[in-house]
Amino acid sequence: MDHQRIPHSMKIFNNTKTFPNIDLGDYILREKTDNDVEDFFRYYTDPEVNKFILCDMPRNLEEARKELYYWRNVFYINDGIYFAVARKDTNQLIGSIGLTTFNSYHNRIELSYDLAKEYWRQGITLAAIKEVVKYGFENLQVNRIEAFTSTENLPSKNLLIKAGFLLEGTLRQHRYHRGSYVDAYSFSLLRQDYFRQTKIV
Ligand SMILES: CC(C)(COP(=O)(O)OP(=O)(O)OC[C@H]1O[C@@H](n2cnc3c(N)ncnc32)[C@H](O)[C@@H]1OP(=O)(O)O)[C@@H](O)C(=O)NCCC(=O)NCCS
Repeated sequence: MDHQRIPHSMKIFNNTKTFPNIDLGDYILREKTDNDVEDFFRYYTDPEVNKFILCDMPRNLEEARKELYYWRNVFYINDGIYFAVARKDTNQLIGSIGLTTFNSYHNRIELSYDLAKEYWRQGITLAAIKEVVKYGFENLQVNRIEAFTSTENLPSKNLLIKAGFLLEGTLRQHRYHRGSYVDAYSFSLLRQDYFRQTKIV
């Protein structure tokens, strides 16, 4: 998934907020730090991982650091929250997941995620999505969580369906990626669906 990057200089920072941790058993969702830059650069620039990530890749550690801090700061400018997925035993960063591009008028936000290849197919992202969705509806109080994925990204499509998102349709040539326009699926989960599923109301 990709993101429309609004310069952070145009947003107001709130450094008094406390970034939450979310426990996933063997893994944890936590704030990204300077210590994560090398792990982030390594997994994120793996061609198999970024094949369907529709944005430019960092070319070196300094670009990776800027990228990492861009997504970390999403929390402090009230644009959403973007977590590191980390091992609990070593604290090593193995992926990222979060909600960004908060639209306060329409009360909606966008989900995105990626994970180091050696951790694929162990249910980690599905477990993380469930917690991030909970955070979105219960803490951020959004009405709609949306997700966009290349129509060629079968793992991501299946994952979103398994996480309870509804496939709304195809957005034709929605993203420009590496020299061509790419069709994207539009998925969403609504607040009313979430609370019906969790039977809280
Ligand atoms: C998409 C991605 C995050 C999935 O993460 P993951 O932790 O391996 O996913 P999970 O193990 O939680 O899988 C949950 C479900 O998603 C679907 N799924 C995941 N990987 C799949 C694959 N390779 N092929 C088909 N379905 C897949 C399955 O339905 C799976 O359930 P199952 O294993 O019981 O069949 C991971 O493949 C990835 O990082 N890909 C590269 C980055 C990317 O494409 N990000 C999204 C951009 S839109």
